[in-house]
Amino acid sequence: MERKNILYLLIILFLISGLSIYINILQTQQGHYIHTENTSSYISPSKTETPSNISGEIKIVVLVDNNPFKSGLRNPWGISIYIEYKGLKILFDTGPDPADLRYNAERLGIDLSKVDFIVLSHEHGDHIGGLPLFQEYKSNYKVYIPMHTYDRLSNWIRGLGLTPIPVEDTTEVAPGVYIIGELTPIYEQALALTTSKGIILIVGCSHPGVDNIAEKAVKDLGVRLYIVIGGFHMMGASRERCIEVANKLAELGADKIYPIHCSGNEIRKVIEELYPDKLGEGGVGLELYING
Ligand SMILES: [Fe+2]
Repeated sequence: MERKNILYLLIILFLISGLSIYINILQTQQGHYIHTENTSSYISPSKTETPSNISGEIKIVVLVDNNPFKSGLRNPWGISIYIEYKGLKILFDTGPDPADLRYNAERLGIDLSKVDFIVLSHEHGDHIGGLPLFQEYKSNYKVYIPMHTYDRLSNWIRGLGLTPIPVEDTTEVAPGVYIIGELTPIYEQALALTTSKGIILIVGCSHPGVDNIAEKAVKDLGVRLYIVIGGFHMMGASRERCIEVANKLAELGADKIYPIHCSGNEIRKVIEELYPDKLGEGGVGLELYING
């Protein structure tokens, strides 16, 4: 072969290997960072949070929250969280209004008619007001409510064509899915999803104190806390109280804490100061994908 041809061959080989290295790098990056909008989080055992489109076994979507986060969604005062957990679809609280719930669910690509059951944390309007949306799906959904709200809520829920189910003590309502039984002063329950890394605790307004709910969840289930998300009811709470709550959640094992809805800024500030890696930013439209 002529020297010139050998040179051409070498150049072609060099270009091919360069191109394959480039493609490799591109694929690696796409696997982790296709999704650049700050609306999704992927939580894996090794990394606590990486923006990604990779699906975990558990999906949590904040359907309604007064804290703006993802654009193009409504953010009335209230909370509603949609969960997919090992084949189950669960709605926790419904926000204040059926129209807002429907609007956000449609924009987030969630078909609420497919939910397996609904859990209401407590009887306040910003948590139960969206429930009439389920009237039109004509399916007799189970709606779990705190026992001490049964007298006031059960007739209304039945009137919507749904089935109210009172819960008093911590109960496993599906494999790995627990309702943490009601606490006072305002009767309120919470939802706990069990994972190999601990409890994902979903709270509505935390009138009994998010630290008390978390402590009960850990005690009743005998597993450490892993993630907490929801309303912490700490607007106007003192710095000392915020420090107490942040320390308690950390002590119970929380890796990630998402104070949304009625949590207030002080608790976010305190968690950021004391446990910067644990603070999760979020609001309406937040999507979490978590490995079970
Ligand atoms: Fe609330």
